[in-house]
Amino acid sequence: MEEMEPQTASGKVLWHFTMSLDGFVAGPGHSMDWMQGIEEAGDRDIVAEYVATTGAVLGGRDGWDAFPDASMTYGGRWSGATFVLTHHPEDAAPSPGVTFLDCDVAEAVRIALDAAGGKNVEVLSPTIGKQLLERGLLDEMDIHVAPVLLGDGIRLYDNPGGSPVALTLLNGGPSRVEVGLRYRPVR
Ligand SMILES: NC(=O)c1ccc[n+]([C@@H]2O[C@H](COP(=O)([O-])OP(=O)(O)OC[C@H]3O[C@@H](n4cnc5c(N)ncnc54)[C@H](OP(=O)(O)O)[C@@H]3O)[C@@H](O)[C@H]2O)c1
Repeated sequence: MEEMEPQTASGKVLWHFTMSLDGFVAGPGHSMDWMQGIEEAGDRDIVAEYVATTGAVLGGRDGWDAFPDASMTYGGRWSGATFVLTHHPEDAAPSPGVTFLDCDVAEAVRIALDAAGGKNVEVLSPTIGKQLLERGLLDEMDIHVAPVLLGDGIRLYDNPGGSPVALTLLNGGPSRVEVGLRYRPVR
């Protein structure tokens, strides 16, 4: 299987997450300590790739309240417009570069794409990504699978009782192949 091609900046709506092998993007209580010590694959500077191709970020209120500091996106290497969707923007503390939106998710994407100036909008929210998927407004998802099982936390995609969502693999080669990963527990 091919490694992922470098991401390109072309006004895409992109769901981008590091995910545990069992499908979580955050641990219980939004904990992110499980990411410590996990390295980027190969010689590529993956962070630089996303810093260069991301024009705006769209997140949800829970993620914002857990980490209310847009200056730390990509470890402080990225700067740009951040939009946070919330039903109660009035109780959000103002923060530089951050706009709190209470609108339809499609309108939020339009606003973020406009601010992105031709680069991509990164959707850093499981709940918003799901809504965009349902509305046909999500262009791509970039998922980096971390070598860890969490067992609890916030899932990338949570939809009990829902139907499977078929995906096309964009790594090159056949589009509907399964991806093989071999692990061993750390002792
Ligand atoms: N692993 C990674 O790479 C990575 C990257 C980024 C973030 N994360 C993690 O992802 C987690 C965030 O996800 P989450 O699922 O807990 O919450 P979230 O998606 O950040 O926030 C959910 C909240 O956003 C608001 N919202 C969502 N859709 C809305 C809409 N259409 N209109 C108005 N408001 C809307 C609602 O807030 P109100 O109704 O309360 O206003 C909703 O309760 C955090 O723990 C963060 O650390 C992980």
